Amino acid sequence: MKTHRIALYPGDGIGPDVLDAAVTVLRAASTKAGTFRVEYERFDWGMIHFDAHGQVAPDDFLATLRPFDAIFLGAVGWPARLPDHITLAPLIRLRQAFDLYACTRPARTFPGVPGPLRSGAPIDLVVVRENSEGEYVDNGGVLAVDTPNEVALQTAVHTRRGVERILRFAFDLARTRRRRLAMITKSNAQRYAYVLWDRVLAELGPQFADVSVEKLHIDAATLELVRRPETFDVIVGSNLFGDILSDLTGGITGSLGLNPSANLNPERRFPSLFEPVHGSAPDIAGKGIANPTGAILSAAMMIEWLGEADAALAIRNAVERTLAGRHLTPDIGGTLLTTEITAAVVQQLE
Ligand code: NAI
Ligand code: MG
Repeated sequence: MKTHRIALYPGDGIGPDVLDAAVTVLRAASTKAGTFRVEYERFDWGMIHFDAHGQVAPDDFLATLRPFDAIFLGAVGWPARLPDHITLAPLIRLRQAFDLYACTRPARTFPGVPGPLRSGAPIDLVVVRENSEGEYVDNGGVLAVDTPNEVALQTAVHTRRGVERILRFAFDLARTRRRRLAMITKSNAQRYAYVLWDRVLAELGPQFADVSVEKLHIDAATLELVRRPETFDVIVGSNLFGDILSDLTGGITGSLGLNPSANLNPERRFPSLFEPVHGSAPDIAGKGIANPTGAILSAAMMIEWLGEADAALAIRNAVERTLAGRHLTPDIGGTLLTTEITAAVVQQLE
């Protein structure tokens, strides 16, 4: 029987809760399928590790993760105790070192889950975020620190290779869906980096003539995603814009807690990383009320990536039936606990 080896990185806040939910559902899915096994190894990095060792992850954490088939992360960050740029550093290093350049974040509405928009039209889109370069490269410095003359420089890096490969990925994805691609930039104001995106898009367009293309600036995109979200299919943008838009798409579909994500190395030279879009939600941590849907759907994306498409579909269907049956956590208008929703999904699977 095929065995998939998964590294678990629960992290902080609600991270461990939603990760446990996802693992519980995966166990049920593999038992039901009976055709594959999943083995887990758990790494308690994050604040727990910081308290014991003075750093959030060991120096060799990348080498530790390298042999796994995939990595599953809950969420990291505990801003009241440690600045975010320290707790989130391993995650950003992981995305860059393992060349997980295609961050894929589906967002959809579910029957039974109220959304905040008046029109109520069904939303079904995917944000494709360039995940390896752009605005998040560690490139800059500060001069005259803590003086009135202090200067901070932070320079984004966009490469032709990086832009081209993420646009190709997004075009290919659009071909498996409704064949619409929206590219988000700010090329009216930032005339080097985002104009490169415009030029590469224009060059690739003819190879994907069957995909309709729309270009929007980030400010207009935030408006249009509220005004006509149902018209979007695949949305592609740089690291920063993809990050921003995926919180917005979480908001317009009902809750950030619903949305999964995959950080993919499409060439499969490194293990890919799967995680819900949301963060560690310190405001609700420890209460047992985190919505596990995003994490559970991330687990579905993970096993699909590992070749278990039937099991992934079974999980998605079970989640849909659970939500349609109005088994809801407080963020989407219900009263149930994380563990109760998880049990309901497992029951639907069986
Ligand atoms: P957040 O995503 O943790 O929370 C934003 C809001 O959404 C909060 O009101 C929270 O309660 C709610 N929410 C999020 N996930 C939920 C869920 N599963 N169920 C119910 N409600 C949910 O973002 P925030 O508050 O800006 O950041 C908190 C920490 O998480 C920070 O340290 C931040 O840096 C970190 N972060 C980590 C990420 C990751 O691990 N990939 C991603 C985003 C933020
Ligand atoms: Mg984010």
